[in-house]
Amino acid sequence: MAVVRHRFLHFVLWVIVTSVSSLASLALAQDQCRTCHEGLGDTPSALFKKDIHAEMGLSCADCHGGNPKTEDMEEAMNKAAGYIGVPKGDGISEVCAKCHSSASIMVKKFNSVLPRNQAELLSASVHGKLSTTGREAIVPCTKCHGAHGIVTKTNPASPVNALNLPKTCAKCHSAAGYMRTYNPALPIDQLDKYRTSVHGKRNASGDIKAAECANCHGSHGILSAKDVRSSVYPTNIPATCAACHSNAEYMRGYGIPSDQLEKFTKSVHGISLLEKKDLGAPACNDCHGNHGATPPGVESISKVCGTCHALNADLFSKSPHKKAFDQRKLPECESCHGHHDILVATDELLGVSANAVCSWCHGKKPESKAYLAAKRMREAIDSLGNSERAATMLVQEAERMGTEIGEAKFKLREVRQARLESRTMVHSFDDEQLQEVVEKGFKSAAAISDGARLAMEDYHFRRRGLGVATLIITVLAVSLYIYIRRLERKQAKS
Ligand code: HEC
Ligand code: HEC
Ligand code: HEC
Ligand code: HEC
Ligand code: HEC
Ligand code: HEC
Ligand code: HEC
Ligand code: HEC
Ligand code: HEC
Ligand code: HEC
Ligand code: HEC
Repeated sequence: MAVVRHRFLHFVLWVIVTSVSSLASLALAQDQCRTCHEGLGDTPSALFKKDIHAEMGLSCADCHGGNPKTEDMEEAMNKAAGYIGVPKGDGISEVCAKCHSSASIMVKKFNSVLPRNQAELLSASVHGKLSTTGREAIVPCTKCHGAHGIVTKTNPASPVNALNLPKTCAKCHSAAGYMRTYNPALPIDQLDKYRTSVHGKRNASGDIKAAECANCHGSHGILSAKDVRSSVYPTNIPATCAACHSNAEYMRGYGIPSDQLEKFTKSVHGISLLEKKDLGAPACNDCHGNHGATPPGVESISKVCGTCHALNADLFSKSPHKKAFDQRKLPECESCHGHHDILVATDELLGVSANAVCSWCHGKKPESKAYLAAKRMREAIDSLGNSERAATMLVQEAERMGTEIGEAKFKLREVRQARLESRTMVHSFDDEQLQEVVEKGFKSAAAISDGARLAMEDYHFRRRGLGVATLIITVLAVSLYIYIRRLERKQAKS
């Protein structure tokens, strides 16, 4: 019995010894770099345990070179064995690109479906420019990804994970001294501002669907905002934002519409920006801010229109609506114009007809001050329009007759100016102030009509003069003719 037990213990011991030694030889065959470095307890090898490259069976030597099969330090880390030491400068990105830009490695060896354009995009990006040392690109792969402990971007430990990326970019972009050496004009407040926006707040609370830096700027191919190819160049912004905001499936659950781009494209601003390429028209970020909740200098989005339409905003703030809207928390301009769907403003908006915006709030009280003001304002604008049309017709007629109407034509511009001014003056919501502008137009229109009439009278006078002259010449010619005939007859007789 004891012998049997003895034999059995021997057997167990043999199993343990052989499996340990075979494991050891397996490890020896695998990666001596890791074995020795883990023994040293250094950070790279500790981090590498969780690295996706380790998971793929890669070794320290796949980036650093050297011979991973030998226990001998000298032999392992030997230039002759391809050891490159710690890569520096552009050498860093080159190490990564060796695999990540290569189809034969990534696809054939690792069956990877990842894009293989990171190095190419990066070197053509704003981060691919030369750094201040003049020797290497500004941002190597490892500044965003790290070198050891690299994991896929959906892993919360990844520095390029949606929740960590703002901090990763801000390591450079919020560093005043560092950024100044490159581009002193570049703001360094992106992260601070971002944290005040809905995107930034949601990101901070763990929502990976709200936009982070790379959603708007891209990741490897980031370009300057002034570059027409940039995803944040004004004419490209609507599409950049719409990638999420027009995707009803993506935005489900937030309880906000997903029609912003659709409406914007048809709006007066959208047509100007996207069709006419007028960079003076607002893109999404001109109203919503780039990084912050609102653009700089605007305390709330309902004040944003005034950054471009300053006169309208100024008049509004002195108008009776200012206090009335503030009290009721009505937004200043959007109450009448909308926001994404702003259309060309026409006179139809004014007055007390069914189409007029004033009717929305004042239509039910025909004897109120506001109703009467709206009615009178529309009448004033209509009659200025009529005077302008009449004056234009007179000038055209006079022009057709070929009379000199330079002065009247110049005045016509004054009428047009007054009409445009009056449309802006509507925002005083005060019919007396509007009347003053309209009067100016009337005066010019009257002067034109007088001028044109005078020119035409002059024309008729000259026409009459010409008639008399023609008559005299005709009479003279006929008399001459008769006289000659008589002479001829006389000669024939004699
Ligand atoms: C037997 C132990 C051992 C083996 C095997 C070994 N190393 Fe090392 N390695 C070291 C030690 C010790 C240092 C620190 C030496 C020093 O500070 O100069 C070091 C340093 C390094 C450094 C930093 C060099 C520097 O200039 O700072 C790198 C990179 C490195 N090893 C990579 C490798 C790679 C890749 C392999 C496998 C091909 C490998 N090592 C194999 C022990 C080892
Ligand atoms: C995916 C490529 C890659 C792999 C795999 C890799 N390294 Fe590195 N390692 C780098 C790069 C790149 C640097 C340069 C430092 C930087 O840019 O942060 C570096 C730097 C180092 C350094 C010096 C600086 C530091 O961070 O202390 C040591 C030591 C080092 N690596 C050891 C190792 C060891 C040991 C392994 C394996 C356990 C390993 N590396 C695996 C890419 C790699
Ligand atoms: C020896 C080849 C090789 C080298 C060198 C290499 N990688 Fe990789 N890398 C891979 C493979 C293989 C994968 C996994 C591919 C997959 O999952 O489809 C990977 C995955 C990654 C991922 C995760 C991608 C994701 O989101 O799923 C990142 C990030 C990455 N590598 C960055 C780097 C960086 C940075 C360097 C240089 C410091 C580098 N790699 C060097 C082969 C390499
Ligand atoms: C400026 C920061 C930055 C730099 C520099 C950078 N990356 Fe990335 N990388 C990212 C971000 C952010 C993602 C996440 C991708 C996304 O969501 O669009 C990413 C994703 C990846 C992926 C996953 C596949 C993909 O393309 O989405 C790989 C692989 C990768 N990077 C490799 C590299 C390599 C190789 C380099 C250097 C040539 C590099 N990266 C340089 C920020 C960077
Ligand atoms: C290693 C530091 C560093 C990191 C990390 C970095 N950047 Fe940059 N970035 C710079 C520098 C420096 C410039 C200025 C280049 C110049 O103008 O010469 C720059 C320029 C830019 C620009 C162009 C600005 C303009 O309009 O001219 C954008 C946009 C940008 N970075 C976004 C990002 C984003 C997004 C991230 C993160 C995914 C990021 N950067 C990560 C250093 C960095
Ligand atoms: C919702 C989209 C969006 C997000 C998220 C975003 N940006 Fe921007 N970023 C923009 C727009 C739009 C511009 C400016 C375009 C312009 O000037 O016309 C800009 C400009 C920049 C610039 C140029 C300098 C400046 O401030 O005008 C840098 C640098 C920059 N962003 C970095 C970042 C960083 C870092 C993050 C993350 C913390 C980030 N951005 C997040 C949209 C975004
Ligand atoms: C990666 C997807 C994504 C991109 C790109 C994106 N957003 Fe968002 N945005 C979101 C999500 C998700 C929310 C959160 C919705 C909420 O809380 O109501 C949000 C919220 C907002 C809000 C606040 C809505 C509210 O609740 O009042 C505004 C405004 C906004 N985004 C504008 C923009 C603009 C402008 C751009 C482009 C410069 C943009 N977004 C780009 C995903 C995105
Ligand atoms: C002319 C200014 C302006 C422009 C341009 C603009 N917005 Fe808005 N947006 C607003 C205003 C005003 C609101 C209403 C805000 C409120 O009531 O809090 C708003 C609301 C939003 C909201 C909240 C949900 C909703 O629809 O009410 C989102 C999301 C949004 N805008 C995204 C965008 C996107 C994306 C673009 C570009 C395609 C864009 N905006 C263009 C002014 C603008
Ligand atoms: C970045 C500057 C900018 C901002 C901000 C802006 N607009 Fe405009 N807006 C323009 C320009 C430029 C036009 C002229 C477009 C055209 O006629 O081609 C315009 C046209 C208009 C028109 C039509 C004018 C007409 O002649 O009929 C209205 C109404 C209007 N905007 C209202 C608003 C309102 C309301 C807001 C705020 C919610 C706003 N705008 C924000 C620049 C801006
Ligand atoms: C109470 C309604 C109302 C409010 C509030 C309002 N508007 Fe208007 N707006 C109108 C009407 C009506 C017209 C058309 C006038 C016309 O053509 O006869 C108009 C015309 C315009 C025009 C085209 C005429 C011009 O001035 O070039 C612009 C631009 C404009 N509004 C901008 C704004 C801005 C900016 C605000 C906010 C400060 C604002 N509006 C607030 C009713 C309003
Ligand atoms: C969104 C609702 C709304 C719209 C649209 C609106 N108003 Fe008003 N308005 C008010 C409120 C509220 C007051 C405060 C007095 C009141 O309750 O009638 C007011 C007051 C006025 C007053 C001052 C009346 C007084 O008693 O001193 C005038 C004038 C006026 N509006 C003209 C207009 C004109 C003209 C339009 C169209 C261009 C217009 N309003 C469109 C809400 C509106």
